[in-house]
Amino acid sequence: MDMGLILNTLRDPAGVPFYPIVFQALYILTWALHIAFVLLTLGGMVVSIVGHMKKSIDDNWKLLESHMIQVSKISVSMLIVLGVAPLLFTQVIYDPNWYVTNTLSGLWVVGFIYIMLAGYSMLYWFYYANKNNSSIAGVVGIVSLLLLVFAGVLMHAFAHESIQVDQWMNWYAPNGIIDNSGTNLHIDVVRLAFMVSLSAPVVGIFLLNYADYFSKRDDYSVDYIAFARNLGKKITIGGLLVSAVLFVLWTFTLNMLFNPLVIAIVVFVLLLLAMAIKGSNSYVMTLVLVVAALLISTLREVIRMNIMSKYGYTIYEYPMNIDWPSVIMFLATFVGVGFTAVGFMLTLSWRAGRTKGVYTADGTVTKLANATVTITVLWVAIFLGWGIIAVFKNFL
Ligand code: HEM
Repeated sequence: MDMGLILNTLRDPAGVPFYPIVFQALYILTWALHIAFVLLTLGGMVVSIVGHMKKSIDDNWKLLESHMIQVSKISVSMLIVLGVAPLLFTQVIYDPNWYVTNTLSGLWVVGFIYIMLAGYSMLYWFYYANKNNSSIAGVVGIVSLLLLVFAGVLMHAFAHESIQVDQWMNWYAPNGIIDNSGTNLHIDVVRLAFMVSLSAPVVGIFLLNYADYFSKRDDYSVDYIAFARNLGKKITIGGLLVSAVLFVLWTFTLNMLFNPLVIAIVVFVLLLLAMAIKGSNSYVMTLVLVVAALLISTLREVIRMNIMSKYGYTIYEYPMNIDWPSVIMFLATFVGVGFTAVGFMLTLSWRAGRTKGVYTADGTVTKLANATVTITVLWVAIFLGWGIIAVFKNFL
């Protein structure tokens, strides 16, 4: 069977609407953002659950727990929004792979949505149960965490299956008998363990940021800030060591241990480790973490490209049919709406969080708020207007 021919035939005959390399770069960027919030959610939930168990004996844990549940709650919504972007990009340039996965594991793909929904709803339940001091809060939190981790296992399985081209026929028709139950589920334990283990350094560095950020507020005691900072330091160092071992193991199984990208990732991990031990500025550590995340995201893409090139599939040869109106609309949305709205929300939260009591927006935030509303209204008008004109032109 000529797999290369099949893969290339399965591509969208309409072609891609812009240069494939741009979709690839956006995939790498948005997946790094997606996984950052996945890891913050999982790590934040573990800290919350531990805090829940310890809060009766330590007031520091009580405050930290309530804050980390909030962090996880917001983080889930971010990971979902930021998961859609790489999903769209992967479907544009690697559509044959993604659709094969959906055929092999169709039942799990549908199940994923309900599992994530249940996990997310239970996180809200955990939040309210904890607030009301309910005796079942801890159990609810643990079940929510397990469901969200399971959602991650499924996501990993889909990503893993999509690149195991040589296994597709065995999985679809084992011993020549077609299995269209959609229940296939294949995981790479080491890769998955590495990905999930990263939640420790991510939440550790987040706690260091948290300590630095709230140290500027006089209603947070010095003792509490020191507690958060020490905890963050311990989690970061322990987590980085575990992740480093799993990373070396994973790249060893791939025979890529001495790949320059792999070496660069190891260097960044060691740098983070040194910074955590030395107690460096946590915001600078976050920047180093962002670079490491982008490198890991790039490595995932390199692994996929290497496998696919063996079958003669390269995204750079994807037929292209540039659709300028869509490209302009996309970029205008990304830069105009995205940057202004995100800039507004980040500035607002940063300043509000630093204020004791009620925060009243000042000049810059008000200007940003007005700009966001204006740009969003304009965007909706253009988006709808353009769509309506296209519908009338095509169908009337
Ligand atoms: C709690 C929910 C979720 C968790 C814990 C989670 C976790 C993960 C993990 C661990 C991976 C890495 C897999 C690997 O490289 O081995 C991944 C990849 C990915 N996730 Fe999520 N995810 C979640 C929800 C979502 C949602 C809602 C979307 C989209 C709407 C999404 C889109 C993606 C995409 C597109 C990839 C990359 C797939 C590929 O490269 O083939 N995820 N996710």
